[in-house]
Amino acid sequence: MKLYLKIWRQLNASAKGEMVNYEIDRVSEHMSFLEMLDLLNESLIQKKERVIEFDHDCREGICGQCGVVINGRAHGPLKNTTTCQLHMRSFKDGDTIYIEPFRAKAFPVLRDLKIDRSAFDSIIEAGGFIGASTGQAPEANSIPISYETAEASFDAAACIGCGACVATCKNASAALFVGAKITHLALLPQGKIEASKRVLTMVDQMDSAGFGNCSNTGACEIECPQGISILSIAKMNAEYSKALIFRK
Ligand code: FES
Repeated sequence: MKLYLKIWRQLNASAKGEMVNYEIDRVSEHMSFLEMLDLLNESLIQKKERVIEFDHDCREGICGQCGVVINGRAHGPLKNTTTCQLHMRSFKDGDTIYIEPFRAKAFPVLRDLKIDRSAFDSIIEAGGFIGASTGQAPEANSIPISYETAEASFDAAACIGCGACVATCKNASAALFVGAKITHLALLPQGKIEASKRVLTMVDQMDSAGFGNCSNTGACEIECPQGISILSIAKMNAEYSKALIFRK
């Protein structure tokens, strides 16, 4: 199929960017969205033009590195799908597709579609470590965890840190990301020892990294490729309030 692409080009963080028009032919419906961009880049290389830079790594929906805004939606039109797992069969011959980077004050554009997500890393770093015994894995029944709790923790742990929640939020809030990380550990006995300190430092770092406040629009939950629930934000707020009461 033939497609008309309007892609954000920006040389570096301080340069002024603009949408640039491209036409691409012979796109197979079986290609992933990133493979379609690879095909476009091959044609740019042949013309000795600068390639379009974009983030990616696993291309299996696991690492959270990919992520662009496609026709106004973070990761494109499909629910629970990362950009790398989106296939061109979701588009029609002759379509015009707008492709832009995730935009947020805390995610500066490095070049074209590449953004700096190190603000997320700083939040994780602020959370520190969890206390766990060394040595062999303990006998499973020595730390009873209910099925429901284990599942809820695992659901939160599924967050891949792609930043779609921030990109889609009108406040550029990172509450879903931080909520998922807080919930994942707060539910498990292994994460309880440092729970108060962790939630306080992570939320403080989220605020100082330049993310906006959550106003419960729920847009993050809709665009999250891992289906993280906004209940994790409620859990984060509850943990934060509890930690404030017992803050020394
Ligand atoms: S490239 Fe790893 S999630 Fe898309």
